[in-house]
Amino acid sequence: MQETMQFEMKLQTAKADLSLRREIWVLLVWLLLVQKGEAQQPFASPAQTSPSPGTATWALLHKNVGIASMHTAVTHTGQVLFLDRTDIGPSLISLANGLCRDNQRDMSSQHDCTSHSLMFNPIDNSVRPLLVITDTWCSSGQFLPNGTLMQTGGYNDGVQRVRWLTPCGSDGSCDWVESSTDLLQAGRWYASNQLLPDGRMFVLGGQYSPTYEFIPSNGLGIFTLPLLESKNYFNWYPFIHLLPDGTLYIFADRDSLILDYNTNTIVKTFPSIPGEPRNYPCAGSSVMFALENGGTSAPEVLVCGGASIMAPGNVTAQYPASQTCGRITVWDTNPGWSMQDMPIRRNMGDMVMLPNSQILIINGAQNGAQGWDNAASNPVLNPVIYDPDSWSFQVQPASTIPRVYHSTANLLPDGRVLVAGSNCHIHYTFVGEFPTELRVEAFQPAYMDPIHDSIKPLFVSNPITISYGAPFDVQVSIPGPVQGMVGLTLTSSPFTTHSYSQGQRQVKLAISPPMQLSSNVYSISTKGPLNANVAPPSWYMLHALHQQIPSYGVWVQVQ
Ligand SMILES: *[C@@H]1O[C@H](CO)[C@@H](O)[C@H](O)[C@H]1NC(C)=O
Ligand SMILES: *[C@@H]1O[C@H](CO)[C@@H](O)[C@H](O)[C@H]1NC(C)=O
Repeated sequence: MQETMQFEMKLQTAKADLSLRREIWVLLVWLLLVQKGEAQQPFASPAQTSPSPGTATWALLHKNVGIASMHTAVTHTGQVLFLDRTDIGPSLISLANGLCRDNQRDMSSQHDCTSHSLMFNPIDNSVRPLLVITDTWCSSGQFLPNGTLMQTGGYNDGVQRVRWLTPCGSDGSCDWVESSTDLLQAGRWYASNQLLPDGRMFVLGGQYSPTYEFIPSNGLGIFTLPLLESKNYFNWYPFIHLLPDGTLYIFADRDSLILDYNTNTIVKTFPSIPGEPRNYPCAGSSVMFALENGGTSAPEVLVCGGASIMAPGNVTAQYPASQTCGRITVWDTNPGWSMQDMPIRRNMGDMVMLPNSQILIINGAQNGAQGWDNAASNPVLNPVIYDPDSWSFQVQPASTIPRVYHSTANLLPDGRVLVAGSNCHIHYTFVGEFPTELRVEAFQPAYMDPIHDSIKPLFVSNPITISYGAPFDVQVSIPGPVQGMVGLTLTSSPFTTHSYSQGQRQVKLAISPPMQLSSNVYSISTKGPLNANVAPPSWYMLHALHQQIPSYGVWVQVQ
């Protein structure tokens, strides 16, 4: 088995090498022709555009931030929120100013002077400890329209809690606020959240809670979702995608449906995805592909990876993880799953929507399931990138750091992917195969390779707020000539935990051809996303793309 995998990996690397060699050949031939005067124009039409792919790299940002981030979210103020459990015992970073946390109900340390949540600054890699009181173990969250993070549930004294964090910049002192008035109506440990078009929060599931509710409440209590009730084990951290008609696509285990939460009716059910269960403790991951043309395209969902149904029950066996991805166009009359093999099998992978609408699949293991101690083995060090248009995978360079249970990956506005966490232990443990991981890395996709600098767009001017359907212009500078394939994407900032990024979505805006204003400055006319179903009101990262190379992103508030 091991040998087969290694062979497959070699094969993939060889294939990647081959395609790279092909690109280099194309470039060499072109250079030759240019020298001979036979090629007048580089990349003459979008169809012939074939920029060299460049190389992806890894960077170690911090050797020890002091906590293993189980939940991670990037704020519109440019900081990254790290959050672990509070009942994990002492972390390796103290609270600020000699502060201590006294909580008689904490299961590990009732008097605790260490921190379990941080603000990480991805520009200078500095950290600032935060204070969270009740237990956030395996909790859920999402940003509200005004950029405040609403974070819900957890364990023990945290299981019904609602907490907020209103983000600040690197010089701020923002911290957690626990609501004294708002409580979840059910205990929610391993739940998933989705921001609704009207700004309310939808909170779904959790262990022993096959229900959903709204914050603020609609006054009608909680609602049972039979899909979750029937799955008692494989229903934790269900996948939710807000569809562009305002209904919710919900996936648990191998099954899915569309819920109209306004009438509490199930509008549609889907065939089971072939293969393994896909949710906790067999976690794969899921995204909805970028909605196109401002949000008028039909939504399509991707689910990748997972683990054998036997895996969580018998960790000795270390069953191989799922190798498959399925995609489904949910509005088809008779939707079915189109299945594909990933180059590397994987559970506990994170899926990250990149600014160019490709999907990064990163972190995780090739055997076993989610859980503490020896639940998983054989870490997957190579990410892969999936291109939805060509249905193809590209194996990416390996990290040296295994990221298994309780690890995260989040897109930063500059295009890097921040990778944090990994802890398979009940407390911080620095011995054995998978020590608690306190290092923070960035995966820098090939689009960040400096060889693309001559085609990389940069924003010269952009709005800070965008209204639904309203026209607006941006100006970008592009050093070299503009050749086709200019685009603008809006990407949300999700709350990432347990291989699923709650609230992750992307919209490609409809644009007019760029208008040249000066030697290298172009104006692009576009309009805001169609409506709040397409992009619920919130802060988004706006990226300009040229030949699939994204600019540094800017934060815009969609309202
Ligand atoms: C953001 O909105 C939430 C919910 O309405 C509110 O509780 C919070 O105070 C708001 N934050 C700011 C900074 O206004
Ligand atoms: C678990 O798997 C191992 C190895 O395949 C096997 O020997 C053992 O009998 C299994 N245990 C159970 C309880 O099924």
